[in-house]
Amino acid sequence: MCGIVGYTGHRPAGPIVLDGLRRLEYRGYDSAGIALFDDHNELYVARATGKLDALLQRVEGTLPPAISGIGHTRWATHGEPSDRNAHPHLDPGGNVAIVHNGIVENFEDLRLRYARGPFLSDTDTEVLAHMLATRLESGDDLLVALREVVKEAQGAYSIVAIARNEPGRIVAARVGNAGGIVVGIGDGEHLLASDLSALLPHTRNVTFIEPGEFVDMHADRIAFTDAEGATITKRIEVLPYDPVAAVKGQYKHFMLKEIFEQPDAALDAIRGRYLTRPPHVAFEGLPLDEARAKSLTRVVLVGMGTSMHSAMVGRHYLERFARLPAEVDNSAEFRYRQPVLDENTLVVSIAQSGETVDTLAAMDEARRAGCLQITLCNTPGAQTTRVADGTILLRVGPEIAVASTKTMLASMLLLHGLALHIGRLRGTLDPAVEAQQIEAALHLPAAIGEMLESAPLIEEIAGRYAQDEDFLFLGRGLGYPIALEGALKLKEVSYIHAEGYAAGEMKHGPIALIDEHMPTLAISPRDEVFDKMRSNIEQVRARRGRVIAVVSKGDRSLVGVANDIIELPEVDPLLAPIVTVVPLQLLAYYIATHRGADVDQPRNLAKTVTVE
Ligand code: F6R
Repeated sequence: MCGIVGYTGHRPAGPIVLDGLRRLEYRGYDSAGIALFDDHNELYVARATGKLDALLQRVEGTLPPAISGIGHTRWATHGEPSDRNAHPHLDPGGNVAIVHNGIVENFEDLRLRYARGPFLSDTDTEVLAHMLATRLESGDDLLVALREVVKEAQGAYSIVAIARNEPGRIVAARVGNAGGIVVGIGDGEHLLASDLSALLPHTRNVTFIEPGEFVDMHADRIAFTDAEGATITKRIEVLPYDPVAAVKGQYKHFMLKEIFEQPDAALDAIRGRYLTRPPHVAFEGLPLDEARAKSLTRVVLVGMGTSMHSAMVGRHYLERFARLPAEVDNSAEFRYRQPVLDENTLVVSIAQSGETVDTLAAMDEARRAGCLQITLCNTPGAQTTRVADGTILLRVGPEIAVASTKTMLASMLLLHGLALHIGRLRGTLDPAVEAQQIEAALHLPAAIGEMLESAPLIEEIAGRYAQDEDFLFLGRGLGYPIALEGALKLKEVSYIHAEGYAAGEMKHGPIALIDEHMPTLAISPRDEVFDKMRSNIEQVRARRGRVIAVVSKGDRSLVGVANDIIELPEVDPLLAPIVTVVPLQLLAYYIATHRGADVDQPRNLAKTVTVE
């Protein structure tokens, strides 16, 4: 969960940037760094592996007076945590310093084309400094140079740059939906940061940088432009002093904020785990080596509610990559069924809170039977993590809304990672498939970001269905758990009666419900079961049912058949559920807000269910 800070103004920049980094610490990081151009136009850079204190020790007594500077806390993706991989990164001439949050997907290709000298790090970031320096040398203005560089650097990320001979100037860009940037407007000073917490001590006047936007700031002036260089007028928001409202930022509800945090959630979940050289997935502290992985004969996944839906997606991954028979159980059912278990059974529990009583009881059952246990959890130190033999932390930051969104997305993704990891250990995973899946997963933050661009369309569609009282969600294969999840989200936040079904079941009962008052959401990407989904849609239409179809990018074949169509971005078919869930979350959210429901705290529900 990298953090970025920038300051330009009348006060010494160094301490302000370091204080900002301190305030971003909670995001998690493994190294930190700072860059300043001092009064004599000399570049000062310090980086240190480990906690911020290591960086503070390194800079003690040496921080030059400077009126602007940038800083970064890094959570490794490309390259191990080390001083040389920590940001800021420079061009070989030391004329440009940049910090970056996100993934540059085509960095290897860019390295081949734009190296100005040897690379000093393993990061995907460093090449961008080389590219910027080349453009500056050819006479480009710093902002123009940045604009041209990000045109070539694919992915979802934010980037901030400073350059020699430009005292007091900081430029930044947001590309795609990952890596948020918020800008603070102070008195004779400007700041930017990955999130509000770093700005609040200095100003309450802020504006959020949207994907495709650029900021160019000096102490006394600031300009916002789009990808073509056209000026944009940003709305400056005055944050209230209420800290909860402040954290909510520009969003009306936590649920919406958390839905929009999902490109970053995906990034934070895979950071340092999905590795490219060589391609493999690594988790810290899992009790699994080759022998133990090969001794496994079966996997049982347990969870409740949304977490059980993630488990259903995870089951596909474990069967496919690890070639282990996998089953999913509702924790509450599992515990009372006297399940057949032994020490060669791997029990994977999913509980974002880590305190769900039924899941804890299921884990107790598994412990008594001597099973190996791995748990996925978003809360370090929670009870499930103390019971399990190994923990995979979701690392997506606090989820405040009662309805789970970003934690579900991260659990599906990390079950994918766990399956790849076990598959490698067991020797059941084709290395070419492993490399392809890792590559595809690294594209997810960008794909989820692209999906979020459909939010205005989904809001409009929601308006057409907000008065309905019943809803059917249909999906097949990997779309089935997502159909269940879509129905659950809608029930929870809008109080509309909704049912999720495997589409093949439709004719075995639910079809009796279909009429003009019962709309159907059909998850119908172009996969091997598309034709069957299409038949289901036709059957609904033949009974006067209205259909919202979620289709693959560019698929026009349901135009005129479905009433409303939501297109998915391009995504690997196996990873599709991780993106498909997003429009269903948005639909539930917008329908609920149309109905005036209390989205963040739906009636009768609790975030952590500690009673049976
Ligand atoms: C739905 C939701 C619940 C939880 C369930 C399990 O939006 O949040 O269904 O998924 O209560 O919670 P955890 O994951 O904490 O075990």
